[in-house]
Amino acid sequence: MKIIGTGSALPSLSVTNEMLSLFMDTSDEWIRTRTGISERKIISDENLTDLAVEAAKRALKEANMDGAELDYIICSNVMNYYVTPSLSCLIAGQINASCPCVDLNAACSGFVYGLDMAHAYQMAGKAKNILILCAEEPTRMCSWKDRNTAVLFGDGAAAVVVTEGNDFKASYITAKHRPEILYYQRPLEDCPFVKYQQRGVPLYMNGKEVFKMAVNASVEGIERILKETGYTADQVDHYILHQANIRIIETIRTQLRQPEEKFPHNIERLGNTSSATIPILLDELNKSGELKNGDTVILCGFGAGFTAGACLFTWTIN
Ligand code: UT7
Repeated sequence: MKIIGTGSALPSLSVTNEMLSLFMDTSDEWIRTRTGISERKIISDENLTDLAVEAAKRALKEANMDGAELDYIICSNVMNYYVTPSLSCLIAGQINASCPCVDLNAACSGFVYGLDMAHAYQMAGKAKNILILCAEEPTRMCSWKDRNTAVLFGDGAAAVVVTEGNDFKASYITAKHRPEILYYQRPLEDCPFVKYQQRGVPLYMNGKEVFKMAVNASVEGIERILKETGYTADQVDHYILHQANIRIIETIRTQLRQPEEKFPHNIERLGNTSSATIPILLDELNKSGELKNGDTVILCGFGAGFTAGACLFTWTIN
């Protein structure tokens, strides 16, 4: 498998920490020092589906491919306006695709899970050209009265097109049963045969526990794929990690004994866009020319579940 196109689309509204401190008991100083975030993009006038379509079109354009040539669409998404039909089906209709579509919920690990799934479909001979899209609006899951969660997130969408090739060397995905440390419970319609009413619970997070799980799962996943591929940590040129907290990235980097320049980040501008963080950053690095032909790249994500995943590939898009 190889990546032949990347694309992303972000909301227009930037919300700074100062703007949040006007209606929430928080401060720029607290948010920046604890998370590394200075501002985030939040969907206001736009619509998540439109952003996802735009990201998909940009990735298809770079891949020089029409939507009709896609064999499969995998869309990582936690929150959108419909439970059914799937977001991938809504998007397919707007990019001229007529292939099978599926939504994947592995929370913030969704992009790595999506790549792993796409690779398996290719290996099984069931699909060649696959769009892997991450479209997320976590700002509609948080209570905007809860400073523990609302300050952390931003919205965005990003996509890659993959086709057959030899770039993708290994991936490793996991899930541990820890639903109580990070969850969002949706409201349900009342049913005459059910006594309780489920009104829904906004995003809840035990930050300290998630922090520890994130570091351990990321280091474990990265070490596992290094062992499987025979690469050393030093031979990897770019570690593109889930952007949840700059301190998590720093802790992982220190444990791997690698220099700062190998760990690009955009959390300061975009916050945590759930599964979209990794493909947005990948697209930025691709478009700015920071990824060079032949570079070795590791992607690594973690999220609610508790899910985690890492993969290693050679970059040869140019
Ligand atoms: O992709 C989803 C995965 N999510 C993550 O990876 C998040 C992982 N966790 C984290 O990034 C960090 O744990 C947080 C950034 C969420 C919190 O940082 P922390 O250093 O663990 O802070 P804390 O939870 O220990 O909170 C310290 C204090 C508390 O006050 P007290 O109890 O010490 O008086 C909080 O109430 O900071 C307070 N606090 C805030 N203060 C100002 C919590 N949120 C805020 C806030 N502004 N926004």
